[in-house]
Amino acid sequence: MAAPTIGIHDICFATTGYVLDLAELAGHRGVPVQKYQRGLGQDSMSVPAEDEDIVTLAAAAAAPILATHGHDEIRTVLVATETGVDQSKAAGLYLLSLLDLPSSIRVVELKQACYSGTAAIQFAAAMVAREPGSRVLVIATDIARYDLDTAAEATQGAAAVAMLISADPAMLQLSPISGVYARDISDFWRPNHRSTPVVAGKESIAAYHDAVAGAWRDFHARGGRKFGDFAAHCYHQPFTQMAVKAHRELTRLFAAGAESEAAVLAGTLYNRKIGNCYTASCYLGLVSLLDHSGDLSGCPVAVVSYGSGCVAEVLELYPVPGYRARLRTELHRRTMTERTTVSYAEYRHLWNIQPPTDGSDYLLPDQRSGPFRLAAISGNRRIYERRRNAGSTKKSA
Ligand code: CAA
Repeated sequence: MAAPTIGIHDICFATTGYVLDLAELAGHRGVPVQKYQRGLGQDSMSVPAEDEDIVTLAAAAAAPILATHGHDEIRTVLVATETGVDQSKAAGLYLLSLLDLPSSIRVVELKQACYSGTAAIQFAAAMVAREPGSRVLVIATDIARYDLDTAAEATQGAAAVAMLISADPAMLQLSPISGVYARDISDFWRPNHRSTPVVAGKESIAAYHDAVAGAWRDFHARGGRKFGDFAAHCYHQPFTQMAVKAHRELTRLFAAGAESEAAVLAGTLYNRKIGNCYTASCYLGLVSLLDHSGDLSGCPVAVVSYGSGCVAEVLELYPVPGYRARLRTELHRRTMTERTTVSYAEYRHLWNIQPPTDGSDYLLPDQRSGPFRLAAISGNRRIYERRRNAGSTKKSA
């Protein structure tokens, strides 16, 4: 019996309720705005409201998928993040109440900087291969937060991408061939005592280039198709210009032909306005590509994942005929346009307000944000709420 094809049956993203125009940040930092818009390729960045975190973003990204497909076949929830809210409890467990998930389910959290969403997809694919009737809900969710007044400040952002991994997927088939690369390096990391990462900016860029080239070499060594034969390339995007630079360098190394930036640009359009979203970044790139391209059915698409520290992986995906009818392009556009623009002062205020670190109780103001909110921290427990307008996560008839 032939092995079933496995891949992404559905995909959806959510971002925060607030957004900061980087022209505002540039003005206050005394930096020419072109440095952000052209040099980094970023126009704006998503800013979390006080009552938003990786759990509320994850729930908002997954809810439309559950409303469409229900949860009956979901046996596993994998949440990939480097913005964990607890050192022990998996963030995905909060989703059981928020999304009415059943108790006959395994839930775990994965971490390896911005890479772990890709590991989650691979683990999910292996689980589905073992039990083809089952599905895995993978959610990559992160809030990229850097110290104020640093070079990295303009590369903050936040989003979650939820993906339903299944056999005979309706949207994207995942090739069993992938290329991987790992190395022990400290280019970007967050020790337990810090709420923001330590980052060696230029070193991290060099590490990214080396790692993705290593992953492509491994991909080719395993019989993967040629770099130049892909219709489109989606990259991890700490800032969108990184994708353009990586693509140029990889074209020089592997394609020896005219580089085609068009093969990259459609995948950068959401990231340019949302900013870095760590584990979710290359999958936000994938959604951006699908939402902004013509029919890619049957065309090979490369997803290039990088997580500092570092691990890189190249995935090969094939959009399935008919996938365009399942895109959530309108919802995604609304998610972006319904964000409220904050001033520089409001952004600084939000950045500086953090829940207490001494375990004291804390009530969060109900701010303009998504369908789910963090309402309080009480007795060291995080209390989440579903807003009345959240809509049902029950499958519609
Ligand atoms: N007009 C147009 N372009 C301008 C400009 C202007 N007025 N002024 C500067 N630029 C260009 C520069 O020439 C440069 O482009 P090139 O690299 O193509 O030459 C670009 O703008 C950025 O300028 P700098 O190199 O001077 O930027 P910087 O030193 O201020 O900081 C950064 C850039 C190192 C990326 C910093 O934002 C940072 O540390 N970011 C966080 C780390 C990061 O994102 N690393 C990426 C790889 S690691 C990873 O991918 C994991 C992850 O998610 C973090």
